[in-house]
Amino acid sequence: MTPNLLRITPELSTSVATKTGEVLQLLARIARDFAPATFANSLGAEDMVLTDLILKHKLPIQIFSLDTGRLPPETYDLMGAVEKHYKTQLTVFFPRADDVELYVRNQGINGFYDSVTLRKACCAIRKVEPLKRALAGKRAWITGMRAEQAATRGNLAVQEYDEGNGLEKFNPLASWSEKEVWTYIKENNVPYNALHDKFYPSIGCAPCTRAISPGEDVRAGRWWWENPESKECGLHVKG
Ligand code: ADX
Ligand code: SF4
Repeated sequence: MTPNLLRITPELSTSVATKTGEVLQLLARIARDFAPATFANSLGAEDMVLTDLILKHKLPIQIFSLDTGRLPPETYDLMGAVEKHYKTQLTVFFPRADDVELYVRNQGINGFYDSVTLRKACCAIRKVEPLKRALAGKRAWITGMRAEQAATRGNLAVQEYDEGNGLEKFNPLASWSEKEVWTYIKENNVPYNALHDKFYPSIGCAPCTRAISPGEDVRAGRWWWENPESKECGLHVKG
């Protein structure tokens, strides 16, 4: 589904209103009971819903983004648009320069295409290590993941303990559908990534994301050369 094809029905509007109220209550509870809490904002459609709620309601939840150095230009454009729209400045974590330099020297600039191991090694350097720094000293983190997004996310809970990182993890949009996400975005005039209008429902790094065909899984364009079971970048592993 591309955003411009969405028809907002009264049923969709009602369910989004109800679910928005629930998410707001949850975010307020996280801010109160799990301070300091932080939200991992990839600037994807789901994350724009949470960004809008946190910033519009001035909730005391920090927001950060991981800039892998390989994001598409449209994502940087959206970062700029978000800063203007909400009159805020984004907090960005970059990978360690030494690690990236070593990887590129040993594996080549696009070494991640050569094997799942090398792909995961790149994600470890460009995403997972910076995530650890972003989560240091926090009591909870929040993501925009939805259960429907992937085979690996089918039993996603709204709240879970993140063993690997040692803190509570919240997925407030776990039960939202793609249509509900876009209904919120449209009804609230939330800025979004221009790639979503070009058949990119899920957006990560430029070399590892491509457009999907109608009917394909929403994450089919992520690491498209891999099997669905391996398609996680290490940000959301259990244990
Ligand atoms: S992932 O495989 O890249 O992790 P996805 O793009 O579906 O998957 O993102 C899932 C969630 O992980 C996002 O809602 C967001 O909370 C977090 N996340 C992913 N990429 C980033 C990023 N670059 N910066 C901050 N958070 C991110
Ligand atoms: Fe590297 Fe691709 Fe992972 Fe981005 S998504 S960190 S470019 S392997």
